[in-house]
Amino acid sequence: MTIAVYAGTFDPVTNGHLDIAVRAAGLFDKLYVAVAQETGKNTLFSLEERVQLIRQELSGVANIEVVSFDGLLVDFAHKIGANTIVRGLRAVSDFDIELQMALMNKEMAADLETVFLPTSPQYLFISSSIIKNVASLQGDISRLVPERVLLALEKKLSQI
Ligand code: COA
Repeated sequence: MTIAVYAGTFDPVTNGHLDIAVRAAGLFDKLYVAVAQETGKNTLFSLEERVQLIRQELSGVANIEVVSFDGLLVDFAHKIGANTIVRGLRAVSDFDIELQMALMNKEMAADLETVFLPTSPQYLFISSSIIKNVASLQGDISRLVPERVLLALEKKLSQI
């Protein structure tokens, strides 16, 4: 059985992340979408909120399970029996850091492979930060995030 893990902060999940998750689910028997508890980022949404938002969007994909994790990704991958780490690649600028992470993960866990999927072109330019920034300034992000995320962002931003 091929088990893969796709990890991120997902603060919040965007259509770009969902695109990678759904396509990766087609390549493996099981895909864990793993929401990182602590990544050094000051998150807008709590861990529970980030998990809930992404879980709602992926509940229709039978072989995807959304979970949270803390600590090293390679340790979590071993715990769930994953043999592959999935990463999305956007621009060339992602490559340096992605290669660094893939090699560091390989150094720590030689049995794990990292697989890169190119992000679909319509999502090449987005990140959770740019989504939050544009949303906070009332810009239109409706094509870039699911409806429920849009509503959650509006609510959260109105509270701060
Ligand atoms: N569509 C839209 N946005 C995307 C995207 C896509 N396909 N792929 C990446 N992004 C965005 C993310 O939302 C994120 O935006 P932000 O910086 O505004 O939050 C940014 O691009 C960077 O993405 P990523 O590199 O996946 O960072 P992340 O914070 O989401 O996740 C972890 C990083 C959790 C995977 C990594 O920190 C980790 O593995 N942590 C565990 C600890 C560990 O093992 N450390 C050692 C690693 S070698």
